[in-house]
Amino acid sequence: MAYHIPALLDESIEGLNIRPDGIYVDVTFGGGGHSRAILEKLSEGKLVAFDQDEDARLNVPDDKRLLFLEQNFRFLRNNLVFNGINSIDGLIADLGVSFHQFDEAERGFTFRHDAPLDMRMNRKGTMTAASLIQTTDEPLLADIFYNYGELTNSRRIARCIVEARMKKPVVNAGDLITVIEKLAPQRQENKFYAKVFQALRIAVNHEIDFLKEMLIQALDMLNSGGRLVVITYHSLEDRVVKNFMRTGNFEGISKKDFYGNIETPFRAITKKGIIPGEDEIARNNRSRSARLRVAEKI
Ligand SMILES: C[S@@+](CC[C@H](N)C(=O)[O-])C[C@H]1O[C@@H](n2cnc3c(N)ncnc32)[C@H](O)[C@@H]1O
Repeated sequence: MAYHIPALLDESIEGLNIRPDGIYVDVTFGGGGHSRAILEKLSEGKLVAFDQDEDARLNVPDDKRLLFLEQNFRFLRNNLVFNGINSIDGLIADLGVSFHQFDEAERGFTFRHDAPLDMRMNRKGTMTAASLIQTTDEPLLADIFYNYGELTNSRRIARCIVEARMKKPVVNAGDLITVIEKLAPQRQENKFYAKVFQALRIAVNHEIDFLKEMLIQALDMLNSGGRLVVITYHSLEDRVVKNFMRTGNFEGISKKDFYGNIETPFRAITKKGIIPGEDEIARNNRSRSARLRVAEKI
């Protein structure tokens, strides 16, 4: 089983517009598919790769131009500066989880295995999905399902979980499915469970907050003409990236200068984002929800 198959590989590498002697960052190394393609384009340039999952280290090639850091990308700036890098020519983020994380039953990311609800990308972290389910109060749980899963019956889901956990802890994927199956729309059960699990995963790993922290630091570290390349897998993430690339903030509110000209830190390279073609989806079905956005720092 492949550790991961990178999505939109050619398009994202083209988006980085690599200078052979430039300094690049891959903040989501995973199986290293994007990183290896970047290394192929570098001569004396440098690549710094981040992944918070210790398993990713197994995929690191022996290449002196590559520095791998087992770190959360929310600490982008500190790690780069600590390693003597004060500015970069491009950064790629291929968000979400790797196939490896998703397919390993014990990682607990999917409802397809009845394994403990873990969902930590970084297994040194303390909060698992099971502990989140057990300790989060009902309104906050409802917010998680509403905001991160875009589930309209979020309050009922939270209620059912809170009632169930008072009788018996909800520890495994199977326990959770038993609790929520009565709320699943008929013939759309798997879609519903996928959204519930996605919401928990985003909350456990603070995915939206850390993405925002990373984007702000990326903007700060990029040289003028440097490229920001981001692949997202759901609309929530995509909205954050789209707004940021358009306006430099997460609300998507354009700022105007004294003369009324719109001030933006980026020039859009992809206007609407790039999605995989039929061929890629046929080869790699899990790429189907990917959307690539590229912007150049002005
Ligand atoms: C979709 S995979 C990337 C796959 C990679 N592009 C490839 O070609 O194999 C996402 C990876 O990013 C890592 N990741 C997600 N959020 C992270 C964060 N905040 N800090 C560091 N790594 C993160 C995950 O552990 C996972 O390995």
